[in-house]
Amino acid sequence: MERLLIQNGTIVTPDEIMRGDILIVGETIARVAPEIRADDARVIDATGLHIFPGAIDAHVHLRDPGATHKEDFTTGTRAALAGGVTTILDMPNNSTPTTTRAALAEKRAIARARAVCDFGLVIGATAENAEEINGTRTAPRADERGKNNLIRVPPRSSASNDELGAVAIKLYLGATTGDLLVTEFDPVYRHFSARNDLPIVVHAEDNDALNFFAGASRHPQKRPAIAAVLAVARVLAIAETTGRAVHIAHLSTAREIELVKDAKARGVRVTCEVAPHHLFLSTDDEERLGAFGIVNPPLRAPDDVRALWQNLAHIDLVATDHAPHTRAEKESAKPPSGMPGLETMLPLLLNAANEKRLSLSDIARMTARNPVRVFHLAHKAEIAEGFDADLTLVNLDAEFVIQKPFETKCNWSPFEGTRGRGKIARVILRGREVIADGKFFAEPGNGREVQRT
Ligand code: NCD
Ligand code: ZN
Repeated sequence: MERLLIQNGTIVTPDEIMRGDILIVGETIARVAPEIRADDARVIDATGLHIFPGAIDAHVHLRDPGATHKEDFTTGTRAALAGGVTTILDMPNNSTPTTTRAALAEKRAIARARAVCDFGLVIGATAENAEEINGTRTAPRADERGKNNLIRVPPRSSASNDELGAVAIKLYLGATTGDLLVTEFDPVYRHFSARNDLPIVVHAEDNDALNFFAGASRHPQKRPAIAAVLAVARVLAIAETTGRAVHIAHLSTAREIELVKDAKARGVRVTCEVAPHHLFLSTDDEERLGAFGIVNPPLRAPDDVRALWQNLAHIDLVATDHAPHTRAEKESAKPPSGMPGLETMLPLLLNAANEKRLSLSDIARMTARNPVRVFHLAHKAEIAEGFDADLTLVNLDAEFVIQKPFETKCNWSPFEGTRGRGKIARVILRGREVIADGKFFAEPGNGREVQRT
């Protein structure tokens, strides 16, 4: 088996930052120590570089199958690697939504053939599919109620989704790109009370509120904070009652954070994520960006952006919500919502760390360890013996300019022209160097589906 020794780098984990060597045997990290000698190993000199666990982006829309003019599994996962992301979780809002076992199997076959990084698949909730994707038992029995009238969490082994192979269920409470939408209490509650331990990822905007404000002239006013707050409050109440794990996608307002903090303090099984565009852009950028700044949830007021930064300790992960649309679509009379993010998340975070807005360990926590914990991914994201050798080596001092050409098929970014410090130097996926000095060595088919623990 091939042996690879990464020498003299600075290893970044959520717990510590240390000088050290990493020995990789085959696809796996074999040893991490201050100094390793391995005469037969190929050596990568990481002097001056910081070594992060490969980032895991829990929220991407790769459009394949169905809208491959925007992105496909190869271009999307190339964008991931270019951004230091070694695993992506793909969302189900394709033009034919991924809401059945058959659709999931079809996407799996495409991803296996085309992906250049590792991937997990998320299945979509509909008003009808609670039984199909959760197994047959849906209503919790009275004798399963635990303390405080909460439904006891079933042990993982009894989950009936084993052969489903999805990492999560996505529930859209508000309409956005694609047709996935569930608004009524009955199906929402049936998904939450199903005998299944997959986390439910929620796009939390209240659809009645969105309809009410739809006539507003500017996009942020069509989808105001109250829509997000209502949906988060609702879903937290349902998660608390049913005991099901819920993950709030792209949380974007101060008030949502307060709701999540309060629920966490009471022991509700809730986690949350924030998207880079809600950290690094605001309504101040709306006019400049025009349609390229239209996204759901929308860009928020600077006060909300400040609240996100002040509460990073309570935010479990950063995920891109990579949602590519072509330039022509964005420039049309009815521009769709969404923006790409895979190539820019890590550089923007590294630059923010250089500016002392967060720590390097915060980045490792929010882009690697926590996504693994929320979605129960097996042997990923720790720089330790026995884990997949997924590593992103960065040069914190090197300057970047965000500019074309991008790997994403849409070939634009809301951050074009942004300069900063913190460039991706090398990316290693399960022991294979897939990016080095700006060159790609990854082939379609290299990507493997993640496993759950
Ligand atoms: C996403 C898309 O285009 O798929 N758009 C977006 O504005 N974020 C869908 C979504 O996550 O809402
Ligand atoms: Zn969403």
